[in-house]
Amino acid sequence: MIAVLDFGGQYAHLIADRIRRLRVYAEILPSDASPRRLQDVEGIVLSGGPASVYDPEAPPFDEEVLELGVPVLGICYGHQLMAYVLGGEVRPGGTREYGVARLQVLEEDEVLRGLGPSETVWMSHGDQVVRVPPGFRVLARTPDCPVAAMGDPERKLYGLQFHPEVTHTPKGMRVLDNFLEVCGARRTWDMERFLEGIEEEIRRKVGGRKVFLLVSGGVDSTVSFVLLTKVLGKDRVYGLFVDNGFLRKGEREQVEGTLGTFGRVHTVDASEDFLRAVEGVVDPEEKRRRIGETFVRVMRREADALGLNPEEWVLGQGTIYPDTIESGGTRNSAVIKTHHNRVEAIKRLLEEGRVVEPLSQLYKDEVRRVGERLGLPEDVVWRHPFPGPGLAVRVLCSDGKGFPFPEELSEGVEKVADKFGLEAEVLPIRSVGVQGDFRTYAHPVLISGEADWGTLEEVSTSITNSVEGVNRVVWELTPLKARRPMRATLTRERLDLLREADFRAHEVLRGWGLEREVWQMPVVLVPLGDGGETVVLRPVCSQEAMTAQFAKLPLEAVHEMAEAVLSVPGVGAVLYDVTHKPPGTIEWE
Ligand code: XMP
Repeated sequence: MIAVLDFGGQYAHLIADRIRRLRVYAEILPSDASPRRLQDVEGIVLSGGPASVYDPEAPPFDEEVLELGVPVLGICYGHQLMAYVLGGEVRPGGTREYGVARLQVLEEDEVLRGLGPSETVWMSHGDQVVRVPPGFRVLARTPDCPVAAMGDPERKLYGLQFHPEVTHTPKGMRVLDNFLEVCGARRTWDMERFLEGIEEEIRRKVGGRKVFLLVSGGVDSTVSFVLLTKVLGKDRVYGLFVDNGFLRKGEREQVEGTLGTFGRVHTVDASEDFLRAVEGVVDPEEKRRRIGETFVRVMRREADALGLNPEEWVLGQGTIYPDTIESGGTRNSAVIKTHHNRVEAIKRLLEEGRVVEPLSQLYKDEVRRVGERLGLPEDVVWRHPFPGPGLAVRVLCSDGKGFPFPEELSEGVEKVADKFGLEAEVLPIRSVGVQGDFRTYAHPVLISGEADWGTLEEVSTSITNSVEGVNRVVWELTPLKARRPMRATLTRERLDLLREADFRAHEVLRGWGLEREVWQMPVVLVPLGDGGETVVLRPVCSQEAMTAQFAKLPLEAVHEMAEAVLSVPGVGAVLYDVTHKPPGTIEWE
């Protein structure tokens, strides 16, 4: 087993996921796990994290862990911590580096075996190691980082400033695999074993009680429902499908059809409750909070109506790993976005031991494999992810004033775009993004003009890297005439319009056979225009949603989608999101 010590980086669990994909069992442990607890593991990874080693509040760590004789790999913060503790030098602050960097490999030591002299890696840090501790050698550097990788092969201690666990580091898996070789780790982890373990855990947790589960039709809740039903039997699992009014076109019928064949599902139309809860609300976090609370209220009401005695029933949820990480569910991680499965009311139930989340240790790819093993149809297993709060987080709202910004912001953005022969304009709205380990809420920039994907990628990356206050870049597919904010809230009319736009865009995507090419394609309404709505297409490629690249779909298909969306009455303009994650999140709120 490999222990990943969690220093709060949002990628901590991603490291474990990657290691498991390499068929070695990995577990997340708190940063101050005791040396005794770690003495028998095959290897230890120190994760990244938002702290600086100089912070008085830095997560606790027992230095003796480095003396156990167990191989250790420090990543990002873990790399700095190792250098700091063992007598190297860490320089605080300075320039923050986010994004792709060129790694110059100086020594193809054990962990960098198989890498070329120059590799692309993903960096995200403020502090950096400037002198290695005694016994260590510098294995690689980047133009901005003198010690991008270091190692002491004698003691089997290694440190990497870059993130091998994200897909933006193309040879990252090779590096992790090399470390597993150094550890001599056994390759025994697979879904079969997971299923055995989790079935036992479900039985233990639920005991003699029954499970009441909210199903959304998404992969996670569907797999949870089928798994729970398989373990506990149809009589002990009751699926409640809440039509929150934020579903896509035709979704309700589809979900009822699929889930009904596996177990007991009951649908409740609560769209009025939800619409009322978010009426007039503009702030995205507030919207999420209210939706989460409404979920719980509706669930309680339905449970009461069904006469479910709370002593006999527990709540089931389809929560998966990233849902718990990004809401600061792991002890040290910074809050990026509150997940609806982690609002206060649910947290209280969790504390009371009244929630069962059979997939909370898994990433989406593992959930899909579990789904396949359970015999779910391919189109269900491979469905695009759809957020619990549904279209509500894709209908951006505004008080009509928007978010004004200083002139310098425009100038900065225009200067960068000009280098590419393109026009750029800061938009007076905001969307959610993620930078390093922190959530951002900043302006999108609109790029206009003819360009290929490569140029758009470059201009987008340069703008978000160099202009503070911008976390997203969109490309103008059809002319956006009015670039001012318009007063808009979450209404049935706007939802209906989005439903139709979303449907038509996906129809084109399917028609081109591109559905499996993308991880998901949110279609988003943004409050810009003077009457006509502005729609953003946000197709992304991803493996686990922690990071993502905007999808470079065939331009012909993209323009066909734009036309299809524009043909929806009430739509005024169509834009295409050309932002990777980070710095933008997949969803806009
Ligand atoms: P972001 O926007 O954070 O999304 O890059 C990552 C993945 O999570 C989905 N998502 C959610 N799923 N409830 C969910 O069940 C939520 O509140 C939620 N917010 C985002 C998103 O669609 C993407 O796949």
